[in-house]
Amino acid sequence: MSEVDSAELFQHPDRNLAMELVRATEAAAIRATPWIGRGDKNAADQAAVDAMRKFLSTVNFSGLVVIGEGEKDHAPMLFNGEIVGTGNGPLCDIAVDPIDGTSLTAAGRSHAISMIAVSERGSMLDASSVFYMEKIVASHEAIGVVDISLPIGENIRALAKAKNKAVEDMRIAVLDRPRHEQLIADIRAVGAGTRLILDGDVAGGINAARHDTRIDMCVGIGGSPEGVATACAVKALGGFMQGRLSPTTDEEKQRGLDAGLRFDHIYGVNDLVSGDNTFFVATGVTDGELVRGVRRDGPIISTESIVLRARSGTIRRVSADHQASKWLGD
Ligand code: FBP
Repeated sequence: MSEVDSAELFQHPDRNLAMELVRATEAAAIRATPWIGRGDKNAADQAAVDAMRKFLSTVNFSGLVVIGEGEKDHAPMLFNGEIVGTGNGPLCDIAVDPIDGTSLTAAGRSHAISMIAVSERGSMLDASSVFYMEKIVASHEAIGVVDISLPIGENIRALAKAKNKAVEDMRIAVLDRPRHEQLIADIRAVGAGTRLILDGDVAGGINAARHDTRIDMCVGIGGSPEGVATACAVKALGGFMQGRLSPTTDEEKQRGLDAGLRFDHIYGVNDLVSGDNTFFVATGVTDGELVRGVRRDGPIISTESIVLRARSGTIRRVSADHQASKWLGD
């Protein structure tokens, strides 16, 4: 079969690419498992990258890595600009993070996931030249109500009203970083509570965009690549997201300008990923609110994944039992 236009994604509504891609996030999570709590985040990441790469090569699509493990010279695999997949099937952009939460994994802490996001070719913002992005993510009630340029207190009050909740019941997820000291103080000053996260603002953002969690909003500065991946999931969840690039040096700002990025612009979810059909898959590495981590029970390794598809709005939870002997060599 030859390469076909990405429109194929729309012509075959029963083809859920994400259901094929979930094998790659499962593999990455399983391969990272022996490294949980071992204090070596690079080894955990490498094991996950190798496994994801191997499984991606079997999927019938042509995925251009827009968000990967960095530049070609520094990342042997899944580097930005690399094409993955069999080359047959739809032309896509792909964002990969074999482990979002490498430090969490190395420390044996909760909330590490392995994730892949996919959209039509040319639709994902390449924000890789600027490392940080200020983000605000919430469920659909925030649309037309919340605005990243307003003070956080105003946004919390407005969202609480739209959700018909008391401000005191609002829980706001923020990465626990010194740069967020004032933001955290402002959230608490308005009467809302914080959910401080050690790492992993992709899962934090997704939990804010879902309805069945205790998190109402995820705010603050995190990775821009993670921001674009989060946008793919938010689109599938029908949620709200805005981002503003946050360069830390003049050189980085210049690199961003050279790459066509804008610093006076509020990136909405459609700027971050312009396609109407996005897929997002994540498998738990360690236990978290989004997905359970990998478990081993004798000969069985169990994984839990979430599979989101924007076109249908379907949220699937995929539980899989794998034969340990085929994975861990015993
Ligand atoms: P890695 O697992 O790739 O290191 O990313 C973890 C993470 O917490 C992201 O979820 C987040 O966007 C970013 O790092 C925040 O960066 P920093 O740790 O520099 O604040």
